Amino acid sequence: MEKKSAIIIGATSGIGEELARQLSAAGYEVGLTGRREERLAAIAETLPEKSYQRKMDVADTEAARQIFREMLSEMGDVDLVVINAGIGTRRRQEWEIEKQLLDINVTGFVAIAKAALDYFSARKRGHIVGVSSVAGTKGLGAAMAYSSSKSFISTYMQGMRQYCRQQKLDIAVTDIRPGFVETPMTEGRKGMFWVATVEKATAQIVRAINKRRRIVYVTRRWRLPVWFLKMVPDWLFIRMG
Ligand SMILES: NC(=O)c1ccc[n+]([C@@H]2O[C@H](COP(=O)([O-])OP(=O)(O)OC[C@H]3O[C@@H](n4cnc5c(N)ncnc54)[C@H](OP(=O)(O)O)[C@@H]3O)[C@@H](O)[C@H]2O)c1
Repeated sequence: MEKKSAIIIGATSGIGEELARQLSAAGYEVGLTGRREERLAAIAETLPEKSYQRKMDVADTEAARQIFREMLSEMGDVDLVVINAGIGTRRRQEWEIEKQLLDINVTGFVAIAKAALDYFSARKRGHIVGVSSVAGTKGLGAAMAYSSSKSFISTYMQGMRQYCRQQKLDIAVTDIRPGFVETPMTEGRKGMFWVATVEKATAQIVRAINKRRRIVYVTRRWRLPVWFLKMVPDWLFIRMG
């Protein structure tokens, strides 16, 4: 069987770590990145397939792009890039915190997405997966920067999809939109519902990757509140929550 390989941006905990485990169990060689070097090494030791690890801070965009390109050449041939790195603000919406979030969730995302698009364009095929959120459906008063960063990611991926079609590039673009998932990001958070285990959420993400789906809600039941939110007129939405 032909060997498959994937790079996961933000693989040191939560969804990214579990994705590394499930892809490795499915026979992928995986490239792991994140800021916590000790986590990269610890996770790599437990994976069944060969893996590569590089410390990377996506907010340091030029260095991150360089590390990403080095990883691509070290791994030889990469089929899939998952851009999962992201932070939340936990209701803290001071400028410094929002700026850091935008540096990671928006600028960091584009920095890697563009490098991945360049790589797959030259290779003539590939698959880019971005982790957005149900939170990107509307601007949220309790998480203005977070919700709009996720909306940006989804819109950017829609643009990439159209670009690839216009350029006749065989590159799939998958937008993963999780609801609540049990990870360090949501630890101790109050008021959550329909919380999925990280294993279940990631299994759905892997299935969506295998099917090269365009937009996926994780878990699937989140399609209903999203549909409702899209229908709600603005005057009503701002009174909700
Ligand atoms: N959990 C949920 O309910 C939920 C819902 C919707 C969407 N999401 C999205 O899912 C993604 C994964 O989150 P999670 O829930 O699995 O939380 P998590 O356990 O906190 O994982 C976040 C990952 O992003 C990496 N990361 C953060 N900042 C980074 C940076 N500057 N450079 C490189 N990597 C960075 C982290 O690695 P380091 O800290 O080692 O850098 C970590 O591997 C995020 O994009 C999040 O917004 C989560």
